[in-house]
Amino acid sequence: MAKDETLREAFIDELRDTFDAEQQIIKALRKMVKAANSATLRAAFATHLEETHAQVARLEQVFASLDEKIRGKHCDGMAGIIAEAKSIIDADFDDATTDACLVAAAQRVEHYEIAAYGALIAWANVLGHREAASLLEQTLEEEKETDEKLTALADGGINQEAAGNADRDDETTSTRDAAAAKGRPAASVGKKVKKADKAKKAEKVKKTGKAKGRR
Ligand SMILES: [Fe+2]
Repeated sequence: MAKDETLREAFIDELRDTFDAEQQIIKALRKMVKAANSATLRAAFATHLEETHAQVARLEQVFASLDEKIRGKHCDGMAGIIAEAKSIIDADFDDATTDACLVAAAQRVEHYEIAAYGALIAWANVLGHREAASLLEQTLEEEKETDEKLTALADGGINQEAAGNADRDDETTSTRDAAAAKGRPAASVGKKVKKADKAKKAEKVKKTGKAKGRR
């Protein structure tokens, strides 16, 4: 193996990897727009899909500024992250949990991109490719903003809603478990379990209230 490749080659290689990653993201985002249940999450994915098209065009400008052929190189890292996102879409989660998982998956994508663009910008700067650096910086800013928007969506209700559904699931499971233990159909012990659950929830509220009071 030749050992004379330089940072310039590594930079071009990384650009091709990122060019391919963005194209994989376009395909994945189209599916994520369809899979999202919350209208705000759907809108956020749709906006980022548009941005990603512009990011691909920006990378084409970067290649042109360097007099390099526009070419992608399969990005294994992004393929892995997207495969995980796809398994969420195919899984049997309730709607709210699917949304919480989609946000988590999308943030993995963003963090990978933030790391990639961060390195590309640093290398463009040391190599003296000012135009490339400035184009890549625009994209990095968009990725960071998307990540922040996703955090706001998760904290602003999506995770909470999913946790609410988790509570309902607990109730169903404990009803089923109690029935099985007594050898009776679930409906006959449902009331008892609901009572116990209410007490559990009241305890939780009490605790949360105390925690809030301490702050
Ligand atoms: Fe991107």
